[in-house]
Amino acid sequence: MQATAPLLLLLPLLLSALPAPSHGWGVDGHLMVCQIAQARALPLTNLSLGRLSDAAAAAVKDLLPSYAGGNLSSLCSWADDVKFRYHWSSALHYIDTPDSLCSYSYDRDCKDEEGVMGRCVAGAINNYTSQLLSYGKSASPEYNLTQALLFLSHFIGDIHQPLHVGFTSDRGGNTIDVHWYRRKTVLHHVWDASIIQTADDDFYGDDVSGFIDTLTKNITGEWSEQVSSWEQCGKNQTACPDIYATESITAACNWAYKGVQEDSTLQDAYFSSRLPVVNLRLAQGGVRLAATLNRIFG
Ligand SMILES: *[C@@H]1O[C@H](CO)[C@@H](O)[C@H](O)[C@H]1NC(C)=O
Ligand SMILES: *[C@@H]1O[C@H](CO)[C@@H](O)[C@H](O)[C@H]1NC(C)=O
Ligand SMILES: *[C@@H]1O[C@H](CO)[C@@H](O)[C@H](O)[C@H]1NC(C)=O
Ligand SMILES: *[C@@H]1O[C@H](CO)[C@@H](O)[C@H](O)[C@H]1NC(C)=O
Ligand SMILES: *[C@@H]1O[C@H](CO)[C@@H](O)[C@H](O)[C@H]1NC(C)=O
Ligand SMILES: *[C@@H]1O[C@H](CO)[C@@H](O)[C@H](O)[C@H]1NC(C)=O
Ligand SMILES: [Zn+2]
Repeated sequence: MQATAPLLLLLPLLLSALPAPSHGWGVDGHLMVCQIAQARALPLTNLSLGRLSDAAAAAVKDLLPSYAGGNLSSLCSWADDVKFRYHWSSALHYIDTPDSLCSYSYDRDCKDEEGVMGRCVAGAINNYTSQLLSYGKSASPEYNLTQALLFLSHFIGDIHQPLHVGFTSDRGGNTIDVHWYRRKTVLHHVWDASIIQTADDDFYGDDVSGFIDTLTKNITGEWSEQVSSWEQCGKNQTACPDIYATESITAACNWAYKGVQEDSTLQDAYFSSRLPVVNLRLAQGGVRLAATLNRIFG
């Protein structure tokens, strides 16, 4: 917590100072997704609804660097931290879909700006899933599976942020200037961080763990009947990013872009109608990260 506090304070400043597009839930969003997933390893949560299996919890613990102390959430923003060092990875955080179409297709849309196929967040989820499937099968793995775990955990979060699957010409809302209450920002950032931050301030006394607790309670309560359908993947598939990407572009059109223009001021009405969407996507991201790790590690 000591390390995250100054980072959380700095993050909005850094993001608004950078002209470059930001891609991903903010630090809080990623923390929430990973914490929900890993909470499913605690016997305390005790859900028959598919928590992290013992095998998956053990593999995660084994693959995490020792300084993480077995805590996956502490490294769920690692992929953002290395975006510049591993420049090749920056295209792997999102998907650009055709303007105004409100649909996603892997073959049509999963490519980077040079048109290289498979280089998008859905391709990356498939890539790191298949790398992790080799866990325990070789003494000298071809890939660094610690990095594969950290990328996968981050990208399953990202693909649930509706504007990570957004329109090409506005770069998922990165070029749409808006005011969030009185503060100047871009629409993409509203969905990465502002909605979460405002909810956190207004309802949880700026304590993300209270927010996570409420989501976790809803996963076992309010949403429990939907949870097994969230977890489901196609026949025999280990990861199913295409389902999540389609949901995201649909939510982007129905909620994120809807009613927003250049220089819109977004405040209470937008906040209260969109927060349930953010809550749902964070919860689904956490549940599906756990489900995917279970399918990978058995
Ligand atoms: C936990 O699991 C046990 C045994 O499966 C069950 O009896 C108990 O009601 C569960 N507790 C909660 C809080 O769900
Ligand atoms: C795991 O790390 C996160 C982020 O640093 C922190 O908020 C959380 O309290 C940690 N969880 C545990 C069980 O230590
Ligand atoms: C797959 O993973 C490798 C190792 O990190 C990386 O070099 C490659 O760019 C990745 N490709 C995709 C599409 O994720
Ligand atoms: C794998 O990646 C992690 C994180 O970047 C790094 O700390 C570790 O040294 C790497 N392992 C190997 C064998 O290169
Ligand atoms: C949890 O569910 C309650 C009851 O439907 C709802 O009012 C609340 O907004 C939900 N909270 C979160 C964080 O999802
Ligand atoms: C799915 O997996 C099961 C068990 O591994 C196998 O028997 C079945 O043939 C597979 N189905 C398809 C469509 O690949
Ligand atoms: Zn990201």
